[in-house]
Amino acid sequence: MIRQHGGPDVLTLEETELPPLKSGEALIRNTACGVNYADIYEREGDHGGPHSAKPMPIVMGHMAVGIVEEVGPDVSSPPVGARVGYIGPASYAEHTVMPAARLFPLPDALSDEVAGGYLLRGLTAEYLVRRLYPLGPGKTALVHAAAGGMGILLGQWGRKLGARMIGTVGSDEKMQIARSFGYDAAINYNTEDFAARVMELTDGTGADVIYDGIGKSAFRASLDCIRPRGMVISYGTASGNVGAFDLQLLHSKSIIVTRPTLRSWIADPEEARAAAGATFTFLADPDIRTPIGAILPLSQAAEAHRQLEGRVTTAPIILKP
Ligand SMILES: NC(=O)c1ccc[n+]([C@@H]2O[C@H](COP(=O)([O-])OP(=O)(O)OC[C@H]3O[C@@H](n4cnc5c(N)ncnc54)[C@H](OP(=O)(O)O)[C@@H]3O)[C@@H](O)[C@H]2O)c1
Repeated sequence: MIRQHGGPDVLTLEETELPPLKSGEALIRNTACGVNYADIYEREGDHGGPHSAKPMPIVMGHMAVGIVEEVGPDVSSPPVGARVGYIGPASYAEHTVMPAARLFPLPDALSDEVAGGYLLRGLTAEYLVRRLYPLGPGKTALVHAAAGGMGILLGQWGRKLGARMIGTVGSDEKMQIARSFGYDAAINYNTEDFAARVMELTDGTGADVIYDGIGKSAFRASLDCIRPRGMVISYGTASGNVGAFDLQLLHSKSIIVTRPTLRSWIADPEEARAAAGATFTFLADPDIRTPIGAILPLSQAAEAHRQLEGRVTTAPIILKP
């Protein structure tokens, strides 16, 4: 948990009482806790929107998988003993209380580790490539941070749907990694002008859609390599918030800009079930690679954060209580 915002050192391992289960709730014994960029925003506390600062102390985390250990009154499913995953707060813990209706029963084909590393990222990739901007043959997508946890999923999912995938990365080594995860072309944005290179690769047209999980450092240049009427999806801010910008920048090419959050795309229970179904089918597909970067004990959550924000990870990290 954290008692103040700051760097990884503010994370501490503590014992705390769980509230008694209320109607509609379930107690989960977590077996694999995902480490996602949202956790870093939560720790830093200055990202606004769904990542606005919450009252202290905060039990960290946004998702985990585990076993239903107990259910509150009126809960008939999932049953005690079921393997489930969830998107919800306070997941860096041995036990977490969640509304039972928000639990996703996990298929046997997905291990706890893969679900722990990929449930939140998979659901995000699902709405990004299937619903917000449906990819398919004839579409060219540019993905920033293509060798990161989200990037390796988007590359594979986009390719599976038949789109042409271009990825940007922060090192030459990561260019190879991006190519091995479905990207037709990779650009090192630390050594190349990525917008100029994308215009070259698309014969001067620009990408149809840009999936930008970086924010501040890439947003402005992304507007220079999107095609007329294309969509720039600012879905993350690993390099900092985009901040205020002049709407007139969008005018000459009728650019569509959106700043989505997963929670809006899985708020409706029917949509959430359909999204989880599509995500599990994708993650369990034998053609799809779902590597795990590291498995650390829960007590080393700070080290997990250092690695993720230090740009050294090219696959998800999970924490084991
Ligand atoms: N909106 C949503 O619904 C939603 C849901 C899930 C995740 N996300 C977003 O998806 C993005 C990726 O999440 P992830 O957990 O899978 O992380 P990740 O992509 O594994 O890690 C972030 C990557 O961003 C790149 N980066 C560029 N500038 C950076 C900087 N100044 N500091 C740190 N990293 C920088 C790094 O790759 P290079 O070294 O290649 O530059 C780094 O590896 C995050 O922005 C997250 O907020 C959004």
